[in-house]
Amino acid sequence: MKRVFSGIRATGRLHLGNYFGAAKGMLKLQDKYDCIFSVVDLHTITVPYDPKILKQATRDIILDYLAIGLDPKKCHLEIQSMIPQHVELAYLLSTIYQVSRLEDLPTYKEKKAQYPKYINMGLLYYPVLMAADILLYKAELVPIGKDQEPHLEVAREIARKFNSMFGQTFPEPQSFKTEGEYVPSLTGDGKMSKSVEGSYITLIDDLATIKKCLAAVPTDSGVIGGELPKAGGIANLFTLLKLLKLDKEYIKFEHDYSNKKIKYSDLKNTLAGTIFEELQIFQKKRKEFENNPALVDSIINDGQNKCLDMAEETMQEVRSRMGFG
Ligand code: TRP
Repeated sequence: MKRVFSGIRATGRLHLGNYFGAAKGMLKLQDKYDCIFSVVDLHTITVPYDPKILKQATRDIILDYLAIGLDPKKCHLEIQSMIPQHVELAYLLSTIYQVSRLEDLPTYKEKKAQYPKYINMGLLYYPVLMAADILLYKAELVPIGKDQEPHLEVAREIARKFNSMFGQTFPEPQSFKTEGEYVPSLTGDGKMSKSVEGSYITLIDDLATIKKCLAAVPTDSGVIGGELPKAGGIANLFTLLKLLKLDKEYIKFEHDYSNKKIKYSDLKNTLAGTIFEELQIFQKKRKEFENNPALVDSIINDGQNKCLDMAEETMQEVRSRMGFG
């Protein structure tokens, strides 16, 4: 069975885009592959963060994972900082990789521009730690978005270099796309994203909050009647109807649109109700885990023990090949 490693930073709660996009794809992966789903808290601290909430933010992602349906009997759930081998391997691998290659990466340049007062060593080191995450478990497949592709290329280069210097040790990890839907932004522009305020509905929002989020979707394009627009707020509302399988309602509102009779408040209310229903299943499950902290602790500890064993096996090989111990 091929091994998959997937990492998510502990920045903010999962939203509807993650739910229909990444999460449903992840659920399928756990049945087909040997998966490690990690909360990469050490990566989270490379940009300004609040140490008082890091621990809870990390645990929140674990709770979200569990509520979505990731099953610790089928996959490994990991908190990166609980496995010190990530950092050890990252340091060892950093000694065989060029600084100038890291300085050239688009993600590094973007973050430098975004936080000019926070250009730290960890930020530069980010892709090396990410390579270590993956190589530590000799993962072959990594589900990532396009923006992470340069980082995966670094991981492959490091694997290749290590293998040629110290002997065949690591497979070269490949990216792949999980099945998932495109969830549009509530701002009417692009896709739903954690980093764009007002673009998303989180998985723990209540009906009133969902209604408020949808109320803000821009619909006053000026043009009405005829064919549905292809982009913008109105188009995105219709995409959401489709995503939620509200086919009858889609036809009705499309008809109303072309006859210039559409009432967006009705459309938004229909959407809000259905989104809330779908999320309630998730929220109920999450509450069950929230109310059973002992169970969650034992799942986290179990994941840690299994991952420590796998990580240590790789590290013994790496240390010995590099001339230690
Ligand atoms: N850099 C990834 C992101 O921002 C998170 C990440 C860290 C990751 N380590 C990883 C993803 C290992 C996949 C594999 O999304």
